[in-house]
Amino acid sequence: MENQEETFSLRPATEDDIPTISEIEKRAHKAPWAEGHFREELEKPYAHFLVLSDDETDSKIAGYIVYWIMFEECQILDVVVDLPYRGRGYAKLMIRNAVTTALNKDIRKILLDVRKSNLPAIQLYQNMKFVITHVRKSFYSDGEDAYQMALFLDQPADEDIEF
Ligand SMILES: CC(C)(COP(=O)(O)OP(=O)(O)OC[C@H]1O[C@@H](n2cnc3c(N)ncnc32)[C@H](O)[C@@H]1OP(=O)(O)O)[C@@H](O)C(=O)NCCC(=O)NCCS
Repeated sequence: MENQEETFSLRPATEDDIPTISEIEKRAHKAPWAEGHFREELEKPYAHFLVLSDDETDSKIAGYIVYWIMFEECQILDVVVDLPYRGRGYAKLMIRNAVTTALNKDIRKILLDVRKSNLPAIQLYQNMKFVITHVRKSFYSDGEDAYQMALFLDQPADEDIEF
């Protein structure tokens, strides 16, 4: 049962987290990543794979993020908050982690793709000052288009972004 008092913090994902992450992923996405895909991310030197685990026992996972830092860009590949934990600012917290890592490496561009129909996610990114840069036609395996969205960190409007 979900406990409203529970708090979660980010730590690097481990092999032991993958089965739970995979279950959350199946609940979250139409075309979920396979367990093997997550395992591969653990091995990539440029991948940042973090989980939100509960502060008290470190045994529950509320969400996770995978982003890459490469070619002078940060690319967010997956960000998920499990259903009971949504609406508490955890997605924002995870994206802020990517922004902070990028800034620390002097990277000024954060990119991601999102399904055109995924209004909560689009709202989240726009809330964080991401802008739609273009449409990728039939980007997903079921034919749905994606929006590519970007956050440009060296624009004057950055002052408004809450990190
Ligand atoms: C999208 C998702 C990650 C948001 O997670 P979350 O922890 O609930 O989001 P937050 O609480 O950090 O919300 C931050 C902002 O996002 C927007 N937002 C989040 N959920 C929303 C919803 N259901 N409807 C509208 N806006 C929403 C709001 O602007 C919100 O700010 P506010 O609370 O000040 O209004 C979550 O719904 C999810 O895991 N969805 C399934 C996986 C997915 O689609 N991931 C994105 C793939 S590109």
